[in-house]
Amino acid sequence: MPRARLTIDPHFTIGPIRRKLFGGFVEHLGRHVYDGIFEPGHETADADGFRTDVIDLVKELGVDTIRYPGGNFVSGFRWEDSVGPVEERPRRLDLAWHSTETNEVGLHEFSSWLEKVGSDLMMAVNLGTRGTLEAIDLLEYSNIRGGTALSERRIANGRTAPFDVRMWCLGNEMDGPWQLGHRSADDYGKIAAQTAKGMRQLDPDIQLVVCGSSSAHMPTFGEWERVVLTHTYDDVDLISCHAYYEERGGDLDSFLASAVDMDGFIETVVATADHVGSVRGSKKRIDISFDEWNVWYIERFHGVDKIEGIDNWPVAPRLLEDVYSVADAVVFGNLMISLLKHADRVASASLAQLVNVIAPIMTEPGGPAWRQTTFFPFSITSRLAQGEALQLKLDSPTYETAAYGEVPLVDAVATHDADTGRSAVFLVNRSTSEPVTVSVDISALGDVALVESHTLSDDDVYAKNTLEDRERVAPRPNDSAAVAGGVLTITLPPVSWTALALA
Ligand code: AHR
Repeated sequence: MPRARLTIDPHFTIGPIRRKLFGGFVEHLGRHVYDGIFEPGHETADADGFRTDVIDLVKELGVDTIRYPGGNFVSGFRWEDSVGPVEERPRRLDLAWHSTETNEVGLHEFSSWLEKVGSDLMMAVNLGTRGTLEAIDLLEYSNIRGGTALSERRIANGRTAPFDVRMWCLGNEMDGPWQLGHRSADDYGKIAAQTAKGMRQLDPDIQLVVCGSSSAHMPTFGEWERVVLTHTYDDVDLISCHAYYEERGGDLDSFLASAVDMDGFIETVVATADHVGSVRGSKKRIDISFDEWNVWYIERFHGVDKIEGIDNWPVAPRLLEDVYSVADAVVFGNLMISLLKHADRVASASLAQLVNVIAPIMTEPGGPAWRQTTFFPFSITSRLAQGEALQLKLDSPTYETAAYGEVPLVDAVATHDADTGRSAVFLVNRSTSEPVTVSVDISALGDVALVESHTLSDDDVYAKNTLEDRERVAPRPNDSAAVAGGVLTITLPPVSWTALALA
């Protein structure tokens, strides 16, 4: 059996684990909002029409800040449509997803849902088909206490206290040719800088996220970041990264190593941002908002799901409803390991998305809500990863992949909370055929005991939770884990994700 070795030392910190690393993303897309979080006729719906079974699952997931309202949707969005009396709100074409947006749920309703789930709002402004003035207007509506036209309009619409939105995205995926209002890096950099300056004149304390690349495989990747940051360096706090992974052409070996790509993506953007900073002689550091990440079967979306036709603009169609397997969840858990390994520079991240749309939570209209396989790595990591992320000394056997060359069989990260004395270790075994035994030197943690172990694996790596079989897949305690003489030993099954808690 292959063996891997890890050494954990709480002195070797990477950086603090900010709760924003466990953010989510709700886009007006498919059945995410309507028939997802909002279904007034559902037996669990509260007085505002929100499904309480979904609220409970979102709370259990442990999501921090939630990005809203898109995504590609935001580039055609007029925010004014989504406020005021619901019966007067216009129905609009959503060109991004070839759907009809009813605006029944808007800024006020979504904020009240966020209060119910205990999360903060991260707002995206439309810099695709709108501009600086509309962004400033939305900021005034959201954050000014009163006494101005737009703040008074908010108050008249039933919300006395400002929404006090702290984080703002300056558009969405502006490097993507599919984006309504797609621009060159130079054009986008200029409008982003102008908008950021205006927004800060209104509220200097907001955090601003400028659009980076939609993936590390965009033809403009790297140069996009350099040009955009050259325009915006002094005016923004973070630059975004987006990445989606899928198993292509039956190449499970490469798919399981997707986090290698995410590691490289983050490190390249950090290097580019720091390069721009040093050219400018700036002491300021730009961090990363990884505000869209997940497993997403995009090829399937481009094939089967497409909605077309001048007379065909459905409300809340079934779109992007990927059903995730054990293998998907292992990759997903590994992506979270990658985010934690870069906790010094990834200040915020948003799982894309939350309900029904490439989501950890699924619902059926008039029916149940349930956890997808990916729910578990998120909820467990969000709960156990506390304090600081730690650098590990990791010796792992390797394997060969078509996409990324030779990569480690085992990937891992550890966390340590000095206040509580608790630590956690997150691991994956990427082998499709062999278990791996891992010895973890934990002597530097002192006298600790193993208090939790969770392993997600299955003889069928494509097993899924479905409407018919909602609890087919769940993590189980890993009985092979044992601590003796300052060493924790554990066997990781093939294609598995594991979390361990020590106290
Ligand atoms: O999350 C689905 C879509 O993926 C988002 O709308 C867009 O930003 C990205 O391309």
